[in-house]
Amino acid sequence: MAKIAVMGYGVVGSGTVEVFYKNKASLERKTGQELDIKYILDLKEFPESPYADKFTKDFNDILNDDEVSVVAEVIGGINPAYTFVKQLLQKGKSVVSSNKELVAKKGAELLAIAKEKNVNFFFEASVGGGIPIIQPLHQSLAANEINEIVGILNGTTNYILTKMIREGDSFESALKTAQKLGYAERDPSADVDGHDTCRKICILASLAFGRHIYPDNIHTEGIRNVTLEDVEYAESFGGAIKLIGWAKQIDNGNVQILTCPALVSDESQLYSVNDVFNAILVRGDSTGDVVFYGKGAGKLPTASAVVSDIVDAIKNKGKSKSLHWDDSEQDFVDSYENIELASYIRFSSQDILKAKSDVKNLFGEVQYLSKKHQNDSEIAFITPVMKEYEIQKLCNELESSGTIVSRIRVLID
Ligand code: HSE
Repeated sequence: MAKIAVMGYGVVGSGTVEVFYKNKASLERKTGQELDIKYILDLKEFPESPYADKFTKDFNDILNDDEVSVVAEVIGGINPAYTFVKQLLQKGKSVVSSNKELVAKKGAELLAIAKEKNVNFFFEASVGGGIPIIQPLHQSLAANEINEIVGILNGTTNYILTKMIREGDSFESALKTAQKLGYAERDPSADVDGHDTCRKICILASLAFGRHIYPDNIHTEGIRNVTLEDVEYAESFGGAIKLIGWAKQIDNGNVQILTCPALVSDESQLYSVNDVFNAILVRGDSTGDVVFYGKGAGKLPTASAVVSDIVDAIKNKGKSKSLHWDDSEQDFVDSYENIELASYIRFSSQDILKAKSDVKNLFGEVQYLSKKHQNDSEIAFITPVMKEYEIQKLCNELESSGTIVSRIRVLID
């Protein structure tokens, strides 16, 4: 018999309890034992809930109950989740978590405690909602050196961008709909300013490249400045704008990593990933490209990943499954200025002929884009692939004859 506790009864927590009881019989078959949820921790009252007798407001009930062997942390945020998880692991309980902020900031430390205590710290639900990616990256792709990971990792922003592309909806109106549907975080800036994507790509890169990559110093741009005009130019290029997390191992073993909106070409497998769906492309040295696709946000998909981790933790009781990465210094991450990508640039000038001549002198051959009802004082073009510091220098020089209205990186494959 295994007893479980669930900490947090919000969207993911209530989904976790729902999925657990809906599929209890098959979960018991898969683990070969009886299972039950003994506690649900939440500060709110749920008197009408069929699980009312399981609620507690006291974390110590869970911590000090030796019957509880696995705890799901679905509270979110750093505090009190971090203190709770740390104490639980130190006490010899396995923890599964959907909390990307916690894993991205404290993963190396929590994994080390789990290893020392011979328990597990799993976090499949922290990236990609219901998509299995953490275990496949750790286990099924273990034979590979991972060269590159690129993902659409945030359901809310992908939903917003899809509404802008398909329906010509404004950013604000699409955000409101996403919040109504329960996709967006309480504070939408985590989604729309790219922090959520940044945390998720840091988790994937830490796992793939073996050393902790902390989100605080990663260059991160969100989608607030993406306009309907950019969306139209992207269409004329045969592409679509997506918010991506991107990480690549370079020759000296260091990692380049970035979160930003990108113009994704229709040659890319990420191009047709729409709505709340996420997709993660992993480039292995033996497998080539592998793409993981599915619902990246929402109550039941995320709960599915939490419950699967609960099953895994129960099946692996008494042995640490060695999900692991080392702690690291910041110099493991290469300077953002060295990242090499092409850019889409929208440039406004009173003298378009001069602007085009300047573009040619500065960037060489570029690909011009056009759109319906294009403003006479505006051009849009794709630069060659060049290093970030070079492109920034050229953009500064170009601004002597006008204004750069938008700049978005381009992802060709
Ligand atoms: N707000 C997140 C998203 C939830 O939209 O992807 C899942 O992590």
